[in-house]
Amino acid sequence: MERTFVAIKPDAVQRGLIGEVIDRFEQRGFKLVGMKFMKVSNELAEKHYGEHKGKPFFGGLVSFITSAPIVAMVWEGKDAVDNIRKMMGKTNPKDADTGTIRGDLAIDIGRNAVHGSDSVESAKREISIFFKEEELVNWEPEIHKWIYE
Ligand code: RTP
Ligand code: MG
Repeated sequence: MERTFVAIKPDAVQRGLIGEVIDRFEQRGFKLVGMKFMKVSNELAEKHYGEHKGKPFFGGLVSFITSAPIVAMVWEGKDAVDNIRKMMGKTNPKDADTGTIRGDLAIDIGRNAVHGSDSVESAKREISIFFKEEELVNWEPEIHKWIYE
């Protein structure tokens, strides 16, 4: 089983889409292991998006992600990183397939509703900057055997 870091970005929180986004991961069969409703500090934003430092959109990205609350989450399941990226759709909502979160709920690349880790390595790094180990919950959903063979 794999874990991935997901954030419901400020645009989706403001638009009342928290439930809609969580619903999709729950319905797919992923397991929630951590969740925080929080305001991201400048320092945390720059750390999280460190790989984009120097790119033209970096300043806008940091000011957007710190502008209003987000929901930070850790989801677990088979191939969670790839599966959840697919569920989110392409970065630019105009290229995201219908049926994906961005394809259904967003229009603009700078307001694309969600973040998901792009590799297992990124997931580990992002989880560790947003959560302390004791904030993650190890639990076994009763329905596990109805989701996995
Ligand atoms: P994310 O990290 O938020 O899940 O998005 P991603 O992997 O699909 O895309 P990434 O390349 O990591 O970019 C991070 C966020 O920066 C904004 N962006 N703007 N204007 C632009 O050309 C541009 N490119 C990226 C997007 O909001 C993207 O989600
Ligand atoms: Mg990314």
